[in-house]
Amino acid sequence: MRLFRYSTQLTRFARAAAALAGVPLLSGCFWLDGPQSTFDPNGPVARHQMDLFYVTCWVSLVIFVLVGSVLAYTMIRFRARGEADLHAEPPEQGHGNPLVEMSLIGGSVLALVVIAIPTLREIWYSYEVPVEDKANAYEVTATGYQWWFKFDYPGEKAQTDDGSGKAVAAPFTTANELVIPAGRPVHVNLRTVDVIHSFWIPKLAGKVDMMPNRANHLWILADKAGYFWGQCAEFCGESHAVMRFRVIALGPREFNDWLNAQMAPARRAPAAAESGRPRAQFAAYRAFRRNEAGFTEKFDQSPLDSWRALQLPPKDEDAALIARGRELFSSKTCASCHTVRGDGFIGVVGPELTHVGSRSTIAAGLLENNRDELHRWIHAPNEVKPGNTMWLKGYIANSIKLTPEDEDALVNYLESLK
Ligand code: CUA
Repeated sequence: MRLFRYSTQLTRFARAAAALAGVPLLSGCFWLDGPQSTFDPNGPVARHQMDLFYVTCWVSLVIFVLVGSVLAYTMIRFRARGEADLHAEPPEQGHGNPLVEMSLIGGSVLALVVIAIPTLREIWYSYEVPVEDKANAYEVTATGYQWWFKFDYPGEKAQTDDGSGKAVAAPFTTANELVIPAGRPVHVNLRTVDVIHSFWIPKLAGKVDMMPNRANHLWILADKAGYFWGQCAEFCGESHAVMRFRVIALGPREFNDWLNAQMAPARRAPAAAESGRPRAQFAAYRAFRRNEAGFTEKFDQSPLDSWRALQLPPKDEDAALIARGRELFSSKTCASCHTVRGDGFIGVVGPELTHVGSRSTIAAGLLENNRDELHRWIHAPNEVKPGNTMWLKGYIANSIKLTPEDEDALVNYLESLK
């Protein structure tokens, strides 16, 4: 559509105008390529949505300028010029001008049509993978929980054991990190187990609600490999604001490698590492500090590379400490809510943790996944994400108490799960 091309050309002007107008007011947020910016689309769906935004924006701007000019003209032209004007009789009252009224109605209808046609077009476009790409589409299911996201890969079969050590197939799920093939359309089924959530990846697509008893979906396509921020966009309770996730798009080969690694049961730290230097012990973290500063300074420089580094096995491991962590995972009832395939843990209330060490974030995208933050999270989850289930139904309900040594062992175990 010509209008789109036109609007895209005007984008540059809009950015300049936004920058000029917003300097004092929005100096912190007008950088239009921020991690959650819809002005920096990385896929066709987001691009179409941005184009539609500009169509609406330009139509509104034209109306604003027209109405504003007429108003300004009237105010100046017919203003009271002196004492005499203030006491003058009101002018003769008219009863409408058919020509003006019909043109106003006609103009409004035209403006609505100009907005409605591309709007409908984009609603249809963003609803379903285009027919010609359907055969190539990859399918995942995203499920909202208070307050985290579960991702199922219905086309994949993971491995676990049946207790006797025999390998059996299991459904494959992961949490808070949706890894997708780049350059390939991905059909995302949207579900929820509790309240209404909304699935939004600003640079790829969104938002579509995840509603109880309703099968919604959307589709996304990342142009190339990348690391994208996602977020729940519907108020869903106490910790809605910290219900985030990440999308990692990978080229076909890397995506396959990732899938194969994730299909495997939980990794065991090599026994040889037992002779290695034991890791430094942690002091308990009492105060919760938001991680934003650290995250942007270090991780954000190249989030995709940082993510890749996390896929590799840790360098120095203390196998004895990890084994102790595995024991605690069971004795402290973590296993009743979390699955770790291959270690015999099959809980489904919380996120699957079979490969949690390979994810870049914990606590639904809030904290960077490193030893300090893992420690902070399991030490006082309620300080990080108020009202969360792990705290209320785990720690409180089961009176779980962890010593700093317990926490250290658990952190080492979780970190070993690459
Ligand atoms: Cu889930 Cu807001």
